[in-house]
Formats: sequence, C-alpha cells, structure tokens
Amino acid sequence: MRRIVILISGRGSNMRAIIRAAQNEEWPAQIAAVISNKADASGLAYAAEHGIPALVVANKDYPSREAFDAALQSKIDSFVPDLVVLAGFMRVLTTPFVAHYAGRMLNIHPSLLPSFVGLATHRQALAAGVKLHGATVHFVTAELDHGPIVAQAAVPVEADDTEATLAARVLEQEHIIYPRAIRWFVDGRLSVQDGMVRISQEA
Ligand code: GRF
Repeated sequence: MRRIVILISGRGSNMRAIIRAAQNEEWPAQIAAVISNKADASGLAYAAEHGIPALVVANKDYPSREAFDAALQSKIDSFVPDLVVLAGFMRVLTTPFVAHYAGRMLNIHPSLLPSFVGLATHRQALAAGVKLHGATVHFVTAELDHGPIVAQAAVPVEADDTEATLAARVLEQEHIIYPRAIRWFVDGRLSVQDGMVRISQEA
C-alpha cells in the first residue's frame, strides 16, 4: 500500500474527490493523514468522518516560514508518506521543504500552466480574454506553480462568465484530473525526464 498525505487550507473539495476515488476504485493506497495549516479548514471534518487522521499545523504558531515548514515536514514524515498531495494548500513553500519531497509531491493549480501563475487565476484569465482556461496537476519544484506537468484539463470561457462561474467549471475538471493523476503515481506509471512527465501504459 502506498501512503498519501494530503495538505489543505480550506474547503477541501479536491481532497474529497481524492478520498472518494481512492475508496471507490480501491486504490492500492491509503490516505494516511490530512493536514491543514488552518484550524478552521472545513475539509478537516470530512477527513475525520472518513476515519482519516486530520491534523492542524498552524502557520500562525511559528515565527518564520522556515520554522513552519520544518514543523510541517516532521509532522508529514511521521506518517511515512510515498506521496504528498497539495490540495488547495495556500502556502508558498521553502526550498528545503520542496527539495525534501522532490519527485513525490503533487499540486493542482487552477489554470493551464504556464499561463496565470499565482493567485486569482480566473480573474487573470478573464482579463486576458482567453477562450480556453483550465487546471494543471504538476510535480512541485522550487519555482511557484512550475514543475513537470502531469495532467491538464481545458474548459471554454463563456462570454458571460464571472470569476465564480468560471471557477466552478474549472473545479469540476480538477475533481476529475487530480484523482486520475494520483492514481497514475500510485500505480508507478509516472516518470520525469528532462522536466517532462512520461505516463507509461497500464500494466
Ligand atoms: C482549487 O481551485 C485548487 O486548484 C486551488 O485552490 C482551490 C482549492 O479548492 N489551488 P478545494 O479546497 O480543493 O475545494
């Protein structure tokens, strides 16, 4: 069984989609823990209800980014994960933290990377007038919202879209591509060469 630790900051809808897929598809993997940097993250209750250890490591309790990341790392590592999944985890991570999980940490970003890094991606997309927008699952590297791309999904941008309607359309796709990408990792189908992800055929 592969062991997965999921990091969240809030609602945790991607986390729910991952927990659901792991159960329904009977992944050879266990969600070993869900950790939030915010005590009021609503996703924590869902994890706990599903018998998954749900913990808080609150960044506000630490004097620096380095101190927080060190505490978070030791909490994550106490669950001995094969994979760390960032699911709406709203923190910029330090380089040593990212290096420690090189090749075994995934993130989902709500844009078609490399377009629209950072925050307010749906607003950025509307302002740019793009006709397609979407989401990207990628391995985490030191540069924010960069890193080898595992999966993407595109959605149309409609003339009357608001940030909220566009976000909802993208989120629906996030809930499909993130569990799928994690499943590929669990099944040992992902490899990275020269910054590119290869997905091997199903065994
Ligand atoms: C998602 O849009 C994700 O791509 C972004 O933050 C949002 C988190 O939503 N990084 P949720 O907590 O998974 O519902």
